[in-house]
Amino acid sequence: MAYSAVVTFELPEEVERQFRERLNVKFLPSGLPLSPSDLDAAVSGCDAIVVTPPTQVDAEILSRLPASVKAIATYSVGLDHIDLEAAQKHGIAVLNTPDVLTDAVAETAILLLLGAARRATESISLIRSRTWTGWKPKQLVGLGLSDKKLGILGMGRIGRGIAHRAKAFGMEIHYHNTRRLTPDQEEGAQYYADPNAMLSVIDALVLACPLTPSTRGFLDERRLSLMKQTALIVNIARGAIIEDEALINALRDGRIFAAGLDVFANEPRLDPGYYDLPNVFMLPHIGSSTVEARMMMGMSLIEGLERLASGVNPPN
Ligand code: DGY
Repeated sequence: MAYSAVVTFELPEEVERQFRERLNVKFLPSGLPLSPSDLDAAVSGCDAIVVTPPTQVDAEILSRLPASVKAIATYSVGLDHIDLEAAQKHGIAVLNTPDVLTDAVAETAILLLLGAARRATESISLIRSRTWTGWKPKQLVGLGLSDKKLGILGMGRIGRGIAHRAKAFGMEIHYHNTRRLTPDQEEGAQYYADPNAMLSVIDALVLACPLTPSTRGFLDERRLSLMKQTALIVNIARGAIIEDEALINALRDGRIFAAGLDVFANEPRLDPGYYDLPNVFMLPHIGSSTVEARMMMGMSLIEGLERLASGVNPPN
């Protein structure tokens, strides 16, 4: 029998239609993030809860869920908002949306890289201010990417998707990952067991790793000081991988050329220090926000829940 699921946020219309057609689903009108009491009220009697990252599903919430709840499905690839150990302890399956958003997020990384390198924030401000006085040899001169070294922290699906695209721009790929890739997967990329050794070599760094206790606060004052003054920093992973104060100071003092950020600690209340920096190109966490990815994310959760309902473990 189809799972009964509670979806705790609004979905794109076609995705919502598929959920209604294929699962026995209830949509909650509440906004995000859900408070623990909203969640309690919503889930009684259901088999699965569909959440997104702003809603924290911690050990306390998991311990209060009724026994009917067999699965938490998150409309994201990131899992840092869910206490996986606690879910396992309570026998609750956790589903996410890997693969289907890889292209969208990798494309966003390239957008950020180009935006940071080519001073997009200043350029957009100049033209929108209606004060642009015309082409000048010294105006808004940025950095090229061709022949530069790109360092990728986290070489999962998204990291590798970024590497493919960056190679098409003529970049040389360097990476750190908890596990070294096979030579086939590496495709000529240079591996560093120690991420610090990579930082002084590269011209641009893309953070593409999950947020875990060991990556939280990774990019701090000390690591920023290892990087070139002309370096670019891009974050499409999670904001808390960067120590904001350290990055803001480095950007303000010209110790780092520019940053492109799609994610922030404490979204949507990002560190106000970012707002007025000309050399930060920011997006409001739109990494996976394409029609195609958002549709496939929904389908991957529906299919996963259908499989669980029929007693089969889904790949996600
Ligand atoms: C993801 O899928 O993890 C995106 O960052 C949305 O949170």
